[in-house]
Amino acid sequence: MSRRGVLAVGCASLASPAVAGVRQPGAPVMSRVSFTVNGEPRTLELDTRTTLLDALREHLRLTGTKKGCDHGQCGACTVVVGGRRINSCLTLAVMHEGDRITTIEGLGRPEALHPMQAAFVKHDGYQCGYCTPGQICSAVAVLEEIKAGVPSHASADITAAPQVTTDELRERMSGNICRCGAYSNIIEAIAEVAGGGS
Ligand code: FES
Ligand code: FES
Repeated sequence: MSRRGVLAVGCASLASPAVAGVRQPGAPVMSRVSFTVNGEPRTLELDTRTTLLDALREHLRLTGTKKGCDHGQCGACTVVVGGRRINSCLTLAVMHEGDRITTIEGLGRPEALHPMQAAFVKHDGYQCGYCTPGQICSAVAVLEEIKAGVPSHASADITAAPQVTTDELRERMSGNICRCGAYSNIIEAIAEVAGGGS
């Protein structure tokens, strides 16, 4: 059995009440949640303390979304929910009943990359790649935010339509940390997809 399989069996046995139908003191409270992940309806029976990140990785085996800090500080766990990027480590899965969730696996496939994925490859927007799924999900949502006219801290005039500038992209991507320091290449990739340069 794989390491992941051993952990899954261990967690399942911990979650089982000793007496059927009776919740033991300190036993997890379970709840059902249904949402759409990458266009596919999914229903899970989860400990209510399960984060969306753990639901995706440990229950749906969508391991493209990464756990970096598990504290909302690195952005490795970024996914898109209802068109907005969020840190999936900071939100409980049961809060997402009915939501539409997109992970890196839903953006593109190896044989049909999303334009943002292709641009990251072209511009070497990564080294180890650990932050990359979060960077790409964030970048896709950033361009939608700019298109929708959402200002950022770097916007000089918050009443005017924001432009795709290096300052705007850096500010909007500042929640996604890259320990390898691939920042300049990441910004080049995003700017190319936005039509702002190559
Ligand atoms: Fe979620 Fe770092 S793992 S922000
Ligand atoms: Fe290694 Fe970003 S590519 S952390």
